[in-house]
Order: sequence, then structure tokens, then C-alpha cells
Amino acid sequence: MSITPEEACVASEKLCRTAPVIPVLTVTEVAHAAPLAEALVKGGLPVLEVTLRTPCALEVIAEMAQVAGGIPGAGTLLTPQDVENALKAGAKFGVSPGATDKLLDAAEEMGLPMLPGAASASEAMRLLERGYRVQKFFPAEAAGGAPFLKSIGAPIPQILFCPTGGVSPTNAPDYLKLPNVACVGGSWVAPADKLESGDWGGIEGLARAAATLSA
Ligand code: 3PG
Repeated sequence: MSITPEEACVASEKLCRTAPVIPVLTVTEVAHAAPLAEALVKGGLPVLEVTLRTPCALEVIAEMAQVAGGIPGAGTLLTPQDVENALKAGAKFGVSPGATDKLLDAAEEMGLPMLPGAASASEAMRLLERGYRVQKFFPAEAAGGAPFLKSIGAPIPQILFCPTGGVSPTNAPDYLKLPNVACVGGSWVAPADKLESGDWGGIEGLARAAATLSA
């Protein structure tokens, strides 16, 4: 079932406004999927971006789709095949570091709400022209950080961003106070060492702190 860019934006905006942080998750073991999702949901972060960067990422999404209250999506979508795989696994949304027409065509045809990435005024304008007024700003810190989004918000206030890449509990408030930022994305709530040691309580604590972040 296909979706329009505007329908995708309505869905993305709702997801981005669910909590101040979307955890960006790189998971290496399927067994981690359920306890990780449970810890994050319990901590107040129900929207989960699983990067397609590990061999088990699609299985992880499928597991997380079974966790009550969890809303798993697939990150690092680069190709139409990635879109198809993500949907089959049960992803509720997709995130991409940048955007191509091929990728967006596929997501619209197959019905996956996309949060496509932009890192410059021209990229953001091109996505806007295509109907995507909700965008990921990536790589946020490397591409200019909060000052970039503040500047771009003057001429193009109609785009709502989810900055991701180098965002931390320290700089997140600088982004969250901007009117053109709905939430931020970041991997700090699920660090590799806590995943490896199965420190789900620790991850829940990080999520709880992230869920209360604000300007
Ligand atoms: C990524 O590239 O994995 C995401 O943008 C998250 O970046 P981060 O690890 O800097 O939060």
C-alpha cells in the first residue's frame, strides 16, 4: 500500500514528537533485541531506530516489533532493497542518512514512512520540493550543529528536523530549544559496553534521563 510524502511526514512528525530522543541502535546480537527495546520503552523512549549495519539488524527489528509499546524503525536505508527488507521485518518507519529519488520512490510505493536526511540548504530544499517537510539533519554536529539549524530556520522555517550524529546529553538542549527541531537522534542511550554486558537497567536509566531532556 503506497503512501504520499505528506502522509509520510504526518507519521514522521508524530514519531518525532513522541519523545525528545530517538535512540539510534546498532545491535550485534538478536538476543539483545527484546531486553534492549523493553529497557528503552520502560525508560520512556518508545521510538527505536535500528541501523541496518549489522548482519542481524532485520531480525532485531522483527523481535522489537513484538515488544509492547515499542515502535521500531530501520535506519541506514540506502537502497530500494533496504526499504523492502525493512518493511518485511516489521519496521514502522525508515531513516536515511541522505536521500535519493530511487530510495524515496521505493518508500512511497511500498508504504514506508521515511525520515530522509539532509545536510545542506539545497538538500533540505530539494526534499521540501518533493513534499518532505520533516527531515533528519545528518551528520548534525559535523554539518554545523545547532547554529546551522537556527540559521536555516530563518529562510526555511517550514522544515522540521531531527538532528542526528554527534548529539549528546550535553548539546541536545541546544537543538531542542529551536522551533524547527522536533527531537534528536543519538546512540548514547545504548552504548556498546552496556549492550555487551546486558546492563539493561543501566540503559533504562540512560533512557529515563534522555526522556526528560528539554531546552
Ligand atoms: C549514526 O551515524 O550512527 C547516528 O547518526 C548516530 O550518531 P551518534 O553515534 O553520533 O549518536
